[in-house]
Amino acid sequence: MANIGVECEKSSDCKIGNKFSYLSSCKKCCFVVTILLAILSLILTFMFIFFFDFLIKIINLAPGTTHLNDTNRNIFELIESRGFQYESHFLNTGNGYIIQLVRIINPYSSSDILPPPVFLQHGFQTNGNQWLINRNGYLDTNGDYYEMDPDNNDELIIDKNESTCSSLGFVLANRGYDVWLGNYRGSIYSTNHTTLDIHSAEFWSFSIDNLVDEDLKSTIDYVRNMTNRKSISYVGHSQGAFMMFALLAKHPEYSDYIRPFIALAPVFYMSKMELGLMNLFPMSLMEKLLRIYPREFPMFRKLIILLSNCCENILYNRICFAYLHLLNGYRYEESYKDRVGIYVNNIVTGSSSWNVAHFLQIIMANGQPRHFDFFDDQLNGQHYDGRIRAPEYNASNIRSQHIAIVYSPIDKLNAMVDIEKLKSTLNVKLMDDYMLPENVSHIGMIWSKDAGQLINKRIVQILTRYYNEP
Ligand SMILES: *[C@@H]1O[C@H](CO)[C@@H](O)[C@H](O)[C@H]1NC(C)=O
Ligand SMILES: *[C@@H]1O[C@H](CO)[C@@H](O)[C@H](O)[C@H]1NC(C)=O
Ligand SMILES: *[C@@H]1O[C@H](CO)[C@@H](O)[C@H](O)[C@H]1NC(C)=O
Ligand SMILES: *[C@@H]1O[C@H](CO)[C@@H](O)[C@H](O)[C@H]1NC(C)=O
Ligand SMILES: *[C@@H]1O[C@H](CO)[C@@H](O)[C@H](O)[C@H]1NC(C)=O
Ligand SMILES: *[C@@H]1O[C@H](CO)[C@@H](O)[C@H](O)[C@H]1NC(C)=O
Repeated sequence: MANIGVECEKSSDCKIGNKFSYLSSCKKCCFVVTILLAILSLILTFMFIFFFDFLIKIINLAPGTTHLNDTNRNIFELIESRGFQYESHFLNTGNGYIIQLVRIINPYSSSDILPPPVFLQHGFQTNGNQWLINRNGYLDTNGDYYEMDPDNNDELIIDKNESTCSSLGFVLANRGYDVWLGNYRGSIYSTNHTTLDIHSAEFWSFSIDNLVDEDLKSTIDYVRNMTNRKSISYVGHSQGAFMMFALLAKHPEYSDYIRPFIALAPVFYMSKMELGLMNLFPMSLMEKLLRIYPREFPMFRKLIILLSNCCENILYNRICFAYLHLLNGYRYEESYKDRVGIYVNNIVTGSSSWNVAHFLQIIMANGQPRHFDFFDDQLNGQHYDGRIRAPEYNASNIRSQHIAIVYSPIDKLNAMVDIEKLKSTLNVKLMDDYMLPENVSHIGMIWSKDAGQLINKRIVQILTRYYNEP
């Protein structure tokens, strides 16, 4: 507070300790400025709590801000803004959690053929939006989908034949697939329960095991049922891939229902996973705290929205990229600079503290995936048929003949040694084993400028091959 009154005649006038001269000789300026600042912070806090949308509007008026409509769009607005339609499906996982699936409807698809269903499962701390936001785009009245290239004066790129656009959800819907976007429990579109209060510790007491055994299983059964198919296709990124490997290891019969399974950043073993910011804290202490206090993690969704809107200001652009780089290795060079706010708004969108604790447990166990450890013999026994040690997920059990993996040699969250180990543990032949060039990061598989030509084109090829010669 001491030197806050910049209008003071002499800085020494403002020293705390001599209250009377501070007020009088400073012509009360320090006092007034302090009061003004206090009022301003009160107003900001008040607006943050009660007029959040208005505050965001003000931030977007600041000079140097390039506000893009996608930044604050939700999944439904994103889909409609491109000219597609959607259906929202709520399903009960069997124990009260309500998962929201969003289906993209292509209004130009002919209704008499049943398009093959493809289920897209996002990774840790993101949500179904991740598949839709890489570029702006639209579906024209001939049913052709285009995207605008921000680096080339929004030049139009058509998604057809060998020219593949960059937002996978729209690429697949445009090409006649029946696209379903998953949202795991606890993420922004799946926060409801039939009986539990969503602010209770009970609601947030779930680990990756629950996402696998309850959410993923019931989701697959639901989509198969809705589409009248014996099997559906699945694309999972990062934790989304891990979940499917875990399911196929634990319930090998699901191999018959998932064809093909395309794993982008095929996380399974985690011996060399680099945690960036999380490395600042001792891992075992962090694991313990996260496990003892089950809750939403993180708890500051509104701050992320605020941050993402600030990121649209030229002043914060590089800082926001540095933040994304720390989180998941995202590279400035592989990104569309103006879209950083959209990316920031769609990561760190919520999960449970147990989800994080579960990852830490696996990392501390030399990267061997295993079930959640309650560190309590009785609780472990209850969950694991009397076994007091959390059982491992064993990739040798997987019997699917329809797995494709796509990975990058620079992925800090999915090291090459761990991918090699996965390949050597799998007892099945891979449908595709595709290593990307050395300029695609972990999240770059979804959000790189080259995602269309490098990744999505390959995915379309794998699906085309599968559906033409099953
Ligand atoms: C963004 O939204 C505003 C208000 O709905 C609209 O006027 C504007 O044209 C939109 N911009 C783009 C690029 O779509
Ligand atoms: C693009 O694919 C369509 C069928 O989807 C085909 O009719 C057309 O000839 C192809 N065009 C080129 C240039 O390959
Ligand atoms: C949550 O689920 C319950 C029970 O299905 C339902 O009555 C309620 O409307 C839902 N709430 C929200 C916000 O979706
Ligand atoms: C779908 O679910 C309904 C009711 O839940 C059931 O009667 C029907 O047999 C299921 N259909 C398929 C194809 O599994
Ligand atoms: C990444 O590398 C590929 C192949 O080496 C190249 O075609 C592409 O332009 C590069 N992309 C970026 C953003 O540097
Ligand atoms: C996985 O199962 C195989 C046999 O099916 C066994 O040899 C191996 O030790 C198991 N691995 C782990 C980590 O349990």
